[in-house]
Amino acid sequence: MSSEQDLQQIKDLQAELAEHNYKYYVLAQPSISDFDFDMKMKELERLEKQYNINDPNSPTQRVGSDLSSDFQQVTHKYTMLSLSNAYSQDELKDFDSRIQKIIGTNDYEYACELKFDGSSISLIYENGELVRAVTRGDGVKGDDVTTNVRTIQSVPLKLRGNDFPESFEIRGEIVMPFDAFNNLNVELEKSGEPLLANPRNTAAGTLKMKNSSIVASRKLDAYLYYVLGENLPEDGHYESLQKAREWGFKISEHTQLCKNIDEVFSFIEKWDTERFNLPVATDGIVIKLNSRKLQNNLGFTAKSPRWAIAYKFKAESVATILKSVSYQVGRTGAVTPVANLEPVLIAGTIVKRASLHNADIISNLDLHIDDTVFVEKGGEIIPKITGVDPAKRHPMFQPVQFIESCPECGTKLIRKEGEAAHYCPNEDACPPQIKGKMEHFVSRKAMDIDGIGQETIELLYNEGLAKNITQLYQLQKAQLLNLERMADKSAQRILDGLEASKQVPFERVLFALGIRFVGETVAKTLVKKLHTIENIQQQTKEQLVEIDEIGDRIAESVVEWFSNEEHLQFIQHLKEYGLQFAISEDQLEGQTNKLEGLSIVISGTFEQHSRDELKKLIEQNGGKNVGSISKKTSYLLAGSNVGPSKLEKVEKLGIPMISEDDFLKMIE
Ligand code: IVH
Repeated sequence: MSSEQDLQQIKDLQAELAEHNYKYYVLAQPSISDFDFDMKMKELERLEKQYNINDPNSPTQRVGSDLSSDFQQVTHKYTMLSLSNAYSQDELKDFDSRIQKIIGTNDYEYACELKFDGSSISLIYENGELVRAVTRGDGVKGDDVTTNVRTIQSVPLKLRGNDFPESFEIRGEIVMPFDAFNNLNVELEKSGEPLLANPRNTAAGTLKMKNSSIVASRKLDAYLYYVLGENLPEDGHYESLQKAREWGFKISEHTQLCKNIDEVFSFIEKWDTERFNLPVATDGIVIKLNSRKLQNNLGFTAKSPRWAIAYKFKAESVATILKSVSYQVGRTGAVTPVANLEPVLIAGTIVKRASLHNADIISNLDLHIDDTVFVEKGGEIIPKITGVDPAKRHPMFQPVQFIESCPECGTKLIRKEGEAAHYCPNEDACPPQIKGKMEHFVSRKAMDIDGIGQETIELLYNEGLAKNITQLYQLQKAQLLNLERMADKSAQRILDGLEASKQVPFERVLFALGIRFVGETVAKTLVKKLHTIENIQQQTKEQLVEIDEIGDRIAESVVEWFSNEEHLQFIQHLKEYGLQFAISEDQLEGQTNKLEGLSIVISGTFEQHSRDELKKLIEQNGGKNVGSISKKTSYLLAGSNVGPSKLEKVEKLGIPMISEDDFLKMIE
């Protein structure tokens, strides 16, 4: 055969195998035997190898690779928001009334969908090919898990048809079907390994595995439920999903259009029980206003779209035995009691542990060891004990006694007036507290140290390489290379990350220190007002509360933190390593108080600056950027496409609107 014919055959085989994959995994209607499929796949592999063809979207690439991949972080084009929740018909009626009021008619439809319980994913397609798959992450940035997602057979690598937009995003849920999950647990049990708790966590964990060939073996699935992009062919959300199905995506067949809230209620009623017959876990119903135009009118809050809501199914309650109670110490020293249970199956997953939150819960339930307890698992990860069956209690059963000293370091626990939790006060030497502080220090919103995450901290701490934050900065490459599974590349990444952290601006360093109640915003405020660590350290409580937004609780905590000699030494060390403890010249230069006392809401899209830039400008000039309009708002900084509800509100409250140009003049 000529090479031209071979190349054509490669293309044909790729297309044919993709088609069979689609029929098998998306439609569940295979039209070829497994054997024939394998033969064709082998032939394609052989040809691709012969011609050195490396198409990442070829069906041969779905098997993954055991080359370990580190995940790059990618900023989402559209922030990945969450949904607000409803637990009753009344809450849904309220949701519907709000929508009706804003739209002004009842001429709209809802798309009702199953709420899949997995791990959300954003898929980017360009020119009909998958180019990127990104996890939700913190909503703004996620991990690039494309290599792993390529192994999921129901995710199309190349789209079908030709009426898809040149570039678009589609979101959905990566799930592990019950069958795959249970088989996996059977295997784990055989090899004596600990069992996996539920399909959702397993799907999320699998997605983040470094070895994509293991991912390929895990039989994940993906349901897509949200198409985003500029030039979508349809106005209706439901209609856009039907189109996406034609392009080859797995779209649930159970999505339904409803004309009014009563139809929504019927849909919920049906799926409340019917869901147990599905192959995958669901934890509710998502109700979305169908028209994209109307969706745009409603817009978003900081956390979720106003045009959609999740109705959560009621939790299933199951009886089991309380075997013992153990205690976990968190980053803040709070001690959480955990119930160890006789394993039970709840909503398709095995539950072995339940959080008891604090000592009051234990005494309110009057828990005794060996009691028969009722356990519920809602959409939340952690199941809870909701009651005890007193008839099953034997007089010999012993009441659960809350521990008096820390299970990790032996220090006597304290309980502050009015607080529910017990604390271990040994904050600078109790292992989980130090590890927690280290984790917080390196985390994305704090020092954002590339290459160090929870597992690395655990490893460094347990191996004695870094027993506290300062020791991180003393790490040597040779020490790191001695660690198990630490390759040269990862070691270098850690060292580079630490080096780069020396340029992280002071406000984030202050946040990273982990002073109680000093979150991101408070850290920013303190740095903007006081500029240097020395200044902050010298403030009295009275001086601190003078600052806008700093209350008693924060002020007290700051003063207390700086009164500890060890903390001062800690700062001294970090200074010596070159971390930033003063506001930068640049930040100082750009700072004015031209907008002092003004609170400004930003809405719409702008020509010259992004919304983030505008927010920064407001803050740099002493103003406050707030999310929603109230009587206290000074201006609405309005771009194009401001939502009608915002316009209505400013009009009602008589709040002046300014354009981007007006605003830039104000701070000129
Ligand atoms: S729509 C802006 N539809 O539930 C709208 N989400 O609690 C974004 N989820 O983060 C989500 N099934 O991971 C939507 N049919 C569905 C869903 C769904 C599951 C997940 C998703 C989201 C979370 C919110």
